Amino acid sequence: MRVLGIESSCDETGAAVYDDKEGLIAHALHTQIAMHAEYGGVVPELASRDHIKRIVPLVRKVMADANMQLNELDAVAYTAGPGLIGALLTGAMEARALAYALNIPAVPVHHMEGHLLAPLLEDPKPEFPFVALLVSGGHTMLIQVAKPGDYKLLGQSVDDAAGEAFDKTAKLLGLPYPGGPYLEKLAQNGNPKAYHFPRPMIDRPNCDFSFAGLKTAVLNAVHQHPDDLEAHKADLARCFTDAVADTLVAKCKRALDICHLNSLVVAGGVSANTAVRSALTELMEKRGGRAFFARREFCTDNGAMIALAGMLRFKAGQFGPLQVDVFPRWPLDTLRALDA
Ligand code: KG4
Ligand code: ZN
Repeated sequence: MRVLGIESSCDETGAAVYDDKEGLIAHALHTQIAMHAEYGGVVPELASRDHIKRIVPLVRKVMADANMQLNELDAVAYTAGPGLIGALLTGAMEARALAYALNIPAVPVHHMEGHLLAPLLEDPKPEFPFVALLVSGGHTMLIQVAKPGDYKLLGQSVDDAAGEAFDKTAKLLGLPYPGGPYLEKLAQNGNPKAYHFPRPMIDRPNCDFSFAGLKTAVLNAVHQHPDDLEAHKADLARCFTDAVADTLVAKCKRALDICHLNSLVVAGGVSANTAVRSALTELMEKRGGRAFFARREFCTDNGAMIALAGMLRFKAGQFGPLQVDVFPRWPLDTLRALDA
């Protein structure tokens, strides 16, 4: 069986075809980063208009790459939320229209479930149950995952998301949007001992995060260098990244202990960060367990993760009635478990 997946929740248009036996067949992505860069962040109306322009050619491209005709598809999955409402609607309308014309099901997918399941696109893939750390631009969550769709929220950020902290810190250092990848590059030449930034909330006996204080600590350090910030940027980037990585390690450790699990899935844009990946890999090696990540291009938004999550929900018979629903806010732990 083959499912077409469509992602359009924010500033990336993604499409992919996933086969339940062969795995990922084709995928394509158009990123709007350059378009939004001059505004220093995503402009929702521009995002929606661009998705409208890109989505049909992108679907045509993945169908051609997969060497398939539309009528060979068994379902069309799309990101139904959370995300920007106009952006979500473009993907939802495309998927619903295609599914209606082809007389096949349209499958709404939760964007964060897509991220969470993305490491299943890799080999070896994680086996259930596991603890999942979701670190994206909008969310930071620790989740106990019993099986696909069975998600228990263990903790989350009480203020900024991890990706947001990267982006805001990058902005303080004068880097372009989105700052995460630029900050990663800059940090490579930084001295890890130059500053000691706080590891927020690591002593609290819970799995919640807070990154706003860390951002303020970087701001205060930036103010110490009114005339020569340039010379200190790499050190600031390095020490900020280490503080985030240490915090993620401490909270993952706690979550794994609480759940008596030793398998960790890390997903979302920040999981592309090399320092974060190595810190969490090292943690799991020390514990005799294992950390699973998606390849870097599938850490950030993409169609492949939506096609995969859509396939699982399709096979479990979970597709909605003939209507277009999108949910700009949508708590992950309200999803139905897959009993298949
Ligand atoms: O998962 P994602 O593509 O979008 C959301 O669902 O939010 O995550 C985007 C976030 C941005 O904040 C971006 O700066 C961050 O992930 N990010 C990174 C890296 N690549 C992307 N942060 C740190 N290091 C990276 N290499
Ligand atoms: Zn995302």
